[in-house]
Amino acid sequence: MDLKSTIRAIPDHPKPGIVFRDLTTLMGEPEAFAQTCEALAAAFSDAGITHVAGIEARGFIFGAAVADRLKVAFVPVRKKGKLPAKTITESYALEYGEDTLEVHEDALPKGAKVLLVDDLLATGGTAAASAKLLRAAGGNVVGAAFVVELVDLPGRAKLSEVGVETFSLLTFEEE
Ligand code: PRP
Ligand code: MG
Repeated sequence: MDLKSTIRAIPDHPKPGIVFRDLTTLMGEPEAFAQTCEALAAAFSDAGITHVAGIEARGFIFGAAVADRLKVAFVPVRKKGKLPAKTITESYALEYGEDTLEVHEDALPKGAKVLLVDDLLATGGTAAASAKLLRAAGGNVVGAAFVVELVDLPGRAKLSEVGVETFSLLTFEEE
């Protein structure tokens, strides 16, 4: 199955000159969604992963399915103010704007080997902030897996700078 063709391109969204890669159309095809989650899990099946961390919101969709396939725990990295217990917080610059992410400070046991999962890697700000949080919570971030990587943007380099290895299933140039 050609997974790439199941992703819808929305020109000039959210602003002129940007092509938005819409993964709802991939999710809308059961075979494409299953194949995607299978491939993300397979890339890390021998890495000794103990926890998958999904980044709110779109990272929850793929992250939970990958955790289920790897038969490991799921940890939500949430947007500010959503988690009920004591949290660790990190603010970061987005491709368009700014945001704050949190994890529960007791989300990970000592020695946890964490796979970060998100739908898309652009500037890498979201994933780098998440990796920082998971490390602050005591995790060893083994890698980060994305359905889509926008290769014109420096996400992979940013993650490499903070010592996180990137795996992406599909790549797109921005235009
Ligand atoms: C999008 C996307 C990634 C992030 C990638 O999330 O789902 O999480 O941006 O951008 P970056 O690599 O430049 O940080 P967004 O914050 O738009 O929110 P959502 O997942 O809640 O829809
Ligand atoms: Mg997101």
